[in-house]
Amino acid sequence: MTTVTTPIRNLFTAGPSRPIVAASILSADFARLGEESTAVLAAGADALHVDIMDGHFVPNLSMGPAVCAGVRGACPDAFLDVHLMVTDPAAYLEPFAGAGADHCTFHIEVDADPVALRDRCHELGMTAGVAINPDTPVDAIDDVIDAFDLVLVMSVHPGFSGQSFIESVLEKTRAIAARLRPDQRLEMDGGIGPANAAEVRAAGCDTLVSASAIFGATDRASVIAAIRGGDRATGARDGVRKA
Ligand code: DX5
Ligand code: ZN
Repeated sequence: MTTVTTPIRNLFTAGPSRPIVAASILSADFARLGEESTAVLAAGADALHVDIMDGHFVPNLSMGPAVCAGVRGACPDAFLDVHLMVTDPAAYLEPFAGAGADHCTFHIEVDADPVALRDRCHELGMTAGVAINPDTPVDAIDDVIDAFDLVLVMSVHPGFSGQSFIESVLEKTRAIAARLRPDQRLEMDGGIGPANAAEVRAAGCDTLVSASAIFGATDRASVIAAIRGGDRATGARDGVRKA
C-alpha cells in the first residue's frame, strides 16, 4: 500500500474563495492534449477536470492513468481534478495518484464504502469528492456529506460532453449547499456555459466544470471568465466561504 508524506495540495479546501473553473479535457483535441491543456490554463482555467469512464458505470470509454500522467507531464503545476465514472473506484485511486492526480471524485451510486475511499484518497495525498447523479435523491449522500472535501452534483447523465443542462438538479443543489461547511466545495458538471453559469453559482456552486463550452470557443478566456462570473461570491453560499 502506498502512503504519502507530502502535504495534500489543496485547491478545493484551501484555494481561493471565488468560484473555480475546471476545464474538462474530454472536449479537447486528444491528438494535441498537452497543447490544449496548456492553452485552457493560460486562458484562465483554475484546474483541469479529467473524466474517467469505464464503459460500465457509464456507456462510454474515455482515458486511463497513462493519459492523466501525460497531462501531468505537459502541465506540471496544474491542479488535476479527476472524476471517476467507474464501477470500482477503489481499483483506480492509487493508479491515478501515481499519475499525478490532485483530487479524485467517485460516485455515491457505486457499491463501495465512501468514507473508506475518502480515507484512501487522503492517504494517497489527494482531496476527495463524492458525486451524485441527476436522478439520485439527495438523501443518498446524507450520511457522508460531512466527510468530503467536495460534493459534485451532475447536471447531465454522465458519459458524454455536449449534453443539455438538466435544470431540475438546481433544487437538490440548493439543499446540499445549505449543508456544506466553508471548507467544502460544491461542484457542478454538465451542460455549463456562459448562458447558465450564473444560475449554477446562485444555487450555491463554487466550482464549475465545463468541457464543450470552453474547448469549442474561439475566445476561451472570455468563456472561462463568464463562467467564473467575477471575483465576488454569489448566491446561496454568499459569505459562507472565507477569503
Ligand atoms: C460528463 C462529464 C463532464 C463533461 C462535461 O459525463 O463528467 O465532465 O465533460 O461536458 P460539457 O461541459 O460539454 O457538458
Ligand atoms: Zn466530469
